[in-house]
Amino acid sequence: MLTEKDFITTSYKSIDAASFEWSAPSNIALVKYWGKKENQIPANPSISFTLNNCKTITKLDVIKKSETNSFSFDLLFEGKPKEDFKPKIQKFFERIEKYCPFLKEYHFKIDTQNTFPHSSGIASSASGMAALAMNIMSLEKAINPTISDEYFYSKASFLARLGSGSACRSIKGEVVVWGNHAEINGSSDLFGVEFSEIHPNFKNYQDTILLVDKGEKQVSSTVGHDLMHNHPYAERRFAQAHENLSKMKAILTSGNTAEFIKIVESEALTLHAMMMTSMPYFILMKPNTLEIINKIWKFRNETQIPVCFTLDAGANVHILYPENVSVKVLQFIQDELVDYCQNGQYICDQIGNGAKSN
Ligand code: DP6
Repeated sequence: MLTEKDFITTSYKSIDAASFEWSAPSNIALVKYWGKKENQIPANPSISFTLNNCKTITKLDVIKKSETNSFSFDLLFEGKPKEDFKPKIQKFFERIEKYCPFLKEYHFKIDTQNTFPHSSGIASSASGMAALAMNIMSLEKAINPTISDEYFYSKASFLARLGSGSACRSIKGEVVVWGNHAEINGSSDLFGVEFSEIHPNFKNYQDTILLVDKGEKQVSSTVGHDLMHNHPYAERRFAQAHENLSKMKAILTSGNTAEFIKIVESEALTLHAMMMTSMPYFILMKPNTLEIINKIWKFRNETQIPVCFTLDAGANVHILYPENVSVKVLQFIQDELVDYCQNGQYICDQIGNGAKSN
């Protein structure tokens, strides 16, 4: 079992220049991460489906430099310099320096873009930090070629976590668990692990993301997680996440879509209930979020099609359903839900299996 100390790189060679390119997907949590301790350690374990189409593509050009006092990088977003993203990257480098002590020896050009529309309200931090972490691990592999594949991916997830917690679930695997859990072998608070006992019912599961509100997030996830400190229901919620992950493990293995729906929807509403019962309190759903949820419930009752919703920390709705009902569900979305989306926009995605080298 890899520990924090294993991720501190001590011996490595030097290279003059190199270029890498990785894409990493977004992910959608089934059991939610909400609340964290020092150093990006989650307050409870979580599990997510890795997405396929919503991803960040990041190219990293690396050039050796002579001074080693500070981090040095240029940041391009969709080909143009993007100053406002730089503090986040600077902070990320500071957090991972202990584990990647070679970073100050190089100048970086980070060229990044997303496949999903900018300001769609879809969090790009998970895919963005995962793609950057993969590139940094490619550099580490170039200067330390003996590292194993297992180490490569585990450390990528470890680094991504230090950038953004949920990013550690965007590295490898269709379903990923992050956080210690008694019943998941190898699970760790430090990095995500692949959950592979998935019943065919969940293969190619679909996620259609309805863009209800594309505006800036009302509450940043950092502020959101902080609200769980001294939250009146925090301890019960963290215990519930452990219980729901036990149930989800059994559900994913046995293929029980009816039980899947119960846990997934309850987790989404619990996440929002935590925000509504914190101090200060927030309502991140919009009227159209509720309209959509009610329509989904009605459609499910009438058709018995196993379609359900989940939410992240915002108003957008993720609709999850098996591939074999996708024609009917997409027709339902077209007929009944598109009007509740901002500019009629939605994104069709499905389970994918993680970061890719381009
Ligand atoms: C609601 O991973 O964005 O999407 O660690 O502060 O970067 P930071 O938070 P972040 O939180 C995601 C929270 C969530 C639930 C989840 O993805 O599990």
